[in-house]
Amino acid sequence: MMEVYDRRASTLISELEVEYARRTPRSRELFERALKVFPGGVTYAIRYLKPYPPFIVKGEGPRLWDVDGNSYVDFWMGHGANILGHAPRIVLDAVAEATKSGVHLGFENPYALEYAELLTKILPGVEMIRFANSGTEANMYAVRLARSYTKRNYIVKVEGGWHGGYDALHTGVTPPFKGPESAGLPEDSIKYTIVVPFNDLEAAEEALKKYPVAAIIVEPVLGAGGCIEPEEGYLKALRDLVDRYDSLLVFDEVITGFRLALGGAQEYFNVKADIAVYGKVVGGGYPGAGAIGGRGDVMQLLDHIKYPDPRSRSFHGGTFVGNVATVVAGYTTVKYLLENRSLYERAEELWGSVRRRVDRICSSGGERLCWATGAGSMVGVHFTNVKPRRASDVYGGRWGKHVEEALNLYARLNGILYLSGRTAHLLPSLVHGEPEARSFIEILEAYIARITRD
Ligand SMILES: Cc1ncc(COP(=O)(O)O)c(C=O)c1O
Repeated sequence: MMEVYDRRASTLISELEVEYARRTPRSRELFERALKVFPGGVTYAIRYLKPYPPFIVKGEGPRLWDVDGNSYVDFWMGHGANILGHAPRIVLDAVAEATKSGVHLGFENPYALEYAELLTKILPGVEMIRFANSGTEANMYAVRLARSYTKRNYIVKVEGGWHGGYDALHTGVTPPFKGPESAGLPEDSIKYTIVVPFNDLEAAEEALKKYPVAAIIVEPVLGAGGCIEPEEGYLKALRDLVDRYDSLLVFDEVITGFRLALGGAQEYFNVKADIAVYGKVVGGGYPGAGAIGGRGDVMQLLDHIKYPDPRSRSFHGGTFVGNVATVVAGYTTVKYLLENRSLYERAEELWGSVRRRVDRICSSGGERLCWATGAGSMVGVHFTNVKPRRASDVYGGRWGKHVEEALNLYARLNGILYLSGRTAHLLPSLVHGEPEARSFIEILEAYIARITRD
């Protein structure tokens, strides 16, 4: 039957593309212009949606509007950065006020200090912190820091783990999960990177036994690799393993930070990392979002007073780190979250119930068509043969070539946007509520009915 459903999904794409073209003529025009100046017509390949992406001009709360006036419930939320919804008034106002005297002053400012003090209070295991300009950059410095501390080179990462485009971590992201993940990336730059499957302790231990490993770096809930939750005890066992092998544990909390809980995955799963990497929400929805925090004795390796010789300390820096706009946006956001912690309980309940409802719809016809994964407000929907517990299940277990893409387009035409076209990843904000959740559930139900009923 799955072949029949997939064929119907393919036919549906052709029908829906006609309707999409009718409803989005201005986006189409802009995309044609964009093809001449942006490679692939987009600012970032991941933002490409077939047959062309809607061009967005306005966001407010959980919604977006495109240049043709179509409105959408957004489940992508600025790559997950906009935890308080689009254009939150309190953040915009705070940044406007603080930046009246300059966006970037280029010297130390009290805003960055106050934010760092707040973060070290609420993030478990983060005794000291430094800001970075992006999640990628924060991961790059985290790797260097782990190597400096342990005086070892090897890094263990997880299949499907996405840490940005930094060379040493730009491997093992998509099948076959080995070799450089990009053209122009020499094999040499990943020669110290060992890739192991998520939720596989044996593979992690084998790598630790075989190589002098500086750190295991892991997204506590796999993000781009499928929004997959760790199995019970996996993260705690990784913690124990790295301790046994004198290695470090790095949590990439770029997605999970301030999302699963105010204190991110470290709080949610009650497991402390040695180094935690932040991005997205840490910048309060503003550009330049990144931070590296962790144990004081590890972070001290960034201390130029203690280590005046640049060769003996681990470098970190950047023109825009700690700029007023980003730290004020981040501070205002995190302070609001701290004062409204009940938002997390609400999200936990709501998106847990969404996962259960998705699972029910996925098996409503007697056959199991799809599966919900995730934790907190991270939701993955997979049209796979088994429930994914690692990225290879997401990619290798797909039963159709068109079913995911057709859902994305169907949802778009019914007022819902999410990425990617290959797997539904929902990263709702904390202002999304039951109406938005229900809109997704209803669309999924209608879509499944459409491809399964004669
Ligand atoms: C878990 C994770 N780490 C790192 C990054 C890279 O962050 P940035 O895009 O800010 O460089 C991302 C981005 O999506 C991410 O999801």
